[in-house]
Amino acid sequence: MNAAGMVEVVLPGKVEPEGLQVRRGAVPSAGPGQVVVRMEATGVSFAEQQMRRGRYYDQPPFPFVPGYDLVGTVAAAGEGVDPGLAGTRVAVLLKVGGWASHVVVDAADLVPVPDGIGAAEAETVVINGITAWQMLHRKARVRAGQTVLVHGANGGVGSVLVQLARAAGANVIGTASARHHAALREQGVAPIDYRTEDIPARVRELAPDGVDAVFDHVGGRSVVDSWRLLAPGGTLVAYGSASTRDDEGSKQWPVLKLLGRVWLWNALPNRRRACFFNVWAGRALNRGRFQDRLRADLTEVFEALRRGEITARIAAQLPLTQAAEAMRLAESGTVAGKVVLHA
Ligand SMILES: NC(=O)c1ccc[n+]([C@@H]2O[C@H](COP(=O)([O-])OP(=O)(O)OC[C@H]3O[C@@H](n4cnc5c(N)ncnc54)[C@H](OP(=O)(O)O)[C@@H]3O)[C@@H](O)[C@H]2O)c1
Repeated sequence: MNAAGMVEVVLPGKVEPEGLQVRRGAVPSAGPGQVVVRMEATGVSFAEQQMRRGRYYDQPPFPFVPGYDLVGTVAAAGEGVDPGLAGTRVAVLLKVGGWASHVVVDAADLVPVPDGIGAAEAETVVINGITAWQMLHRKARVRAGQTVLVHGANGGVGSVLVQLARAAGANVIGTASARHHAALREQGVAPIDYRTEDIPARVRELAPDGVDAVFDHVGGRSVVDSWRLLAPGGTLVAYGSASTRDDEGSKQWPVLKLLGRVWLWNALPNRRRACFFNVWAGRALNRGRFQDRLRADLTEVFEALRRGEITARIAAQLPLTQAAEAMRLAESGTVAGKVVLHA
């Protein structure tokens, strides 16, 4: 890659992965309060898979540069930013824009990556780690001895959630395809095959009094079952609608339906609680508070990585210019862990 220029990958519209376009240009400069981050690692998450189908509920209009998060080093600091930041390794949560060799961001959005953690390793736990951490500790407030159900226990978010829940002393039941079950058992997780087994019946066998928390990214029928599996005092955390990824029609409708269900369940007289987790919630209302929480929680995730409580699972590392291959690989369902792109 040309070190003197900027390279980015553009999603021009609803396309197959091969339709992604590589664009080259000048390295951008930082305005007041901003920095230029030289990307070292970004990745393919479920969001990009939905975005290329035009199915992510709040994606920008095409064309745009996708890339939910990145890890890199500060290459230049704009006016009003501590010049000493140059050379620091940082993580940034973006939603879009990360698939670029250089990215301009507000300095206040940076989260330092502690020494001893590599860029690709750190990348695997940015969006996945912050989502898992906040759902577990801020939403469900899971405690030692409780039992939780994690859907997609081998996925990007799910695998971090499982490890953080085990580190917190919880018993974990996890749904996953059968090929992941041996690895899940090794982590102390009771696996259920969501493709062939009756999930509610199996969960009731394993936890006859119900579970204390369910983390559901599947939506549709699954989230109704998830609600019913809660023990008194339990919390449902819904955070996606993976089951509608390939549907036609409004991309907002599955999420609106979920929000409606959550509202209704909470309005019923009961001792259970439901919420829809959105990692961006609260940002528009109070950006400083959002940034403080993000920094504090992601730092906890990096420390858990450093302590070995969670492991970085890298499925493959490819150059940014091979984003199409990376996306194909991530969507193939044949790999475990994050497909990481490097500059
Ligand atoms: N709300 C938020 O703020 C937020 C933030 C981050 C992510 N998310 C959402 O979280 C979800 C997961 O993202 P990710 O990047 O972790 O995706 P990922 O790595 O692709 O993992 C998804 C996992 O879902 C599993 N799966 C698919 N269909 C399933 C079903 N019917 N029942 C149970 N599991 C099923 C797959 O399991 P197998 O491989 O075992 O088949 C796969 O491991 C996405 O829907 C994403 O949009 C939401």
